[in-house]
Amino acid sequence: MHELPPETIRDAIQRAARTMRLGHVPIDRLVYTRWLTTTDVLPVVIVNLDMADLEKPSARLLGRDMRHEIGTHLGGALVLPSNHSGARYVIFLRKPRLPETVPCPENLPAQTFALGVTIDEHLHLPVARMQNVLAGGAPGSGKSTFLHLLAGQAAGKGYRLFLADPQENTFAPGAWEGLAALPVASSPAAFQALLESLLEIFAERSAQFAAQTPVCPDIETYNRTAEEPLPRLMLLVDEANTFLVDKTIQNKLADVARQGRKYGLTVVLAAHDWRAASISKGLSANFTTRLTFRVDDATSGQVVLLSPKLGKAAMNLRHPGRGIGRFPGYGIRLFQACLPPEMPSGVRGASAPLLTRREREILEHIRAHGGKATLEVLQAYGLGQREARRLQAAWLERGLLVRDPMQGNACVLAAEWHAGVLPDKPDKADKADKA
Ligand SMILES: Nc1ncnc2c1ncn2[C@@H]1O[C@H](COP(=O)(O)OP(=O)(O)O)[C@@H](O)[C@H]1O
Ligand SMILES: [Mg+2]
Repeated sequence: MHELPPETIRDAIQRAARTMRLGHVPIDRLVYTRWLTTTDVLPVVIVNLDMADLEKPSARLLGRDMRHEIGTHLGGALVLPSNHSGARYVIFLRKPRLPETVPCPENLPAQTFALGVTIDEHLHLPVARMQNVLAGGAPGSGKSTFLHLLAGQAAGKGYRLFLADPQENTFAPGAWEGLAALPVASSPAAFQALLESLLEIFAERSAQFAAQTPVCPDIETYNRTAEEPLPRLMLLVDEANTFLVDKTIQNKLADVARQGRKYGLTVVLAAHDWRAASISKGLSANFTTRLTFRVDDATSGQVVLLSPKLGKAAMNLRHPGRGIGRFPGYGIRLFQACLPPEMPSGVRGASAPLLTRREREILEHIRAHGGKATLEVLQAYGLGQREARRLQAAWLERGLLVRDPMQGNACVLAAEWHAGVLPDKPDKADKADKA
């Protein structure tokens, strides 16, 4: 293993301290350890300095100059502070790299969301800091996966989920409906209705807060003493700009996002194309966590990160899930997002997707037509042409439909669905059909 002897490190630190006029620095502990989840097996040295023994303020010791000095005395090694309390240095003997995948940690404290890792620490946000999130990134850069990461953790913490996805790709209704408080909103009208429901919940909670003596200012205070704590809420919206072109919706969403904090709502908006026009200043101001994965143009990155320079930097991100963000308590960081947690059955990879009643009806209608899900058949059920196309695309993605090369690549029910493996009720119509 690649190692620096302890004497060399102690010596480098004392020499750096002398250059910095800090006097003698008592070294408390010197360990060799593996560093976070970096893919390299990276030998790391952590040096603990006991602050109580130091005459000089910690800021100087932790400062960039001191770290630079130590690095110089070690032949140009990168030296980073390893946490935010006390003087602890991590000395990288080789240039550290972010891992390509980071699993969502198991047994995370109930009060913590794991977002990812930076080069030198885990990116964990306590629930109280998990306020509104604005996310950007080109197609394929990791947005949907990130939304699943947040939705999965929130569901595990008992949040009520509100989902909107115009393309029904990220939150396929069949898979997610069971976990969400309302059907996944895919049209502007449905999204607006969903915002109305949230405002109703706020009004209800407002009355509950007002009934307390003294009046509760917010959900934290209420839940501290309430017999039945109120569940937190999370609204996750993919391809958000589809909805935001409508100014009425944008204003309503701004209202929801602003009040949300008090009533326990976290709003998460994702889109691949952010323009200044797609998000008003009033709405944008409500988002304290802002992050972007790779973008195709600097503007999207700039709108999300509020900096032209960072917007440009986001164009150079290559790996999916790699992003630049502004995080409360962490500042601006390069990070690798965690992969989503294992979801409860019915979501992600479960064998039988859950179907809504309407979807089951459509499925039976398709069966009654010999398993073909052509546009004509779907229109005969009563779907508009656009809706029929969307349903075809979404069901192909979910594996309910497949293309049959024997029938000119027509969309047909996948074998297991054709055979009648409905998740719940047994199906008489199907038998009659086959007879
Ligand atoms: N955090 C991540 N870590 C590793 N790979 C990821 C991560 N996020 C996404 N990917 C990979 O990139 C692919 C596209 O991600 P996705 O979330 O669908 O992107 P988007 O929604 O931006 O189009 C995923 O199928 C996965 O293979
Ligand atoms: Mg996506």
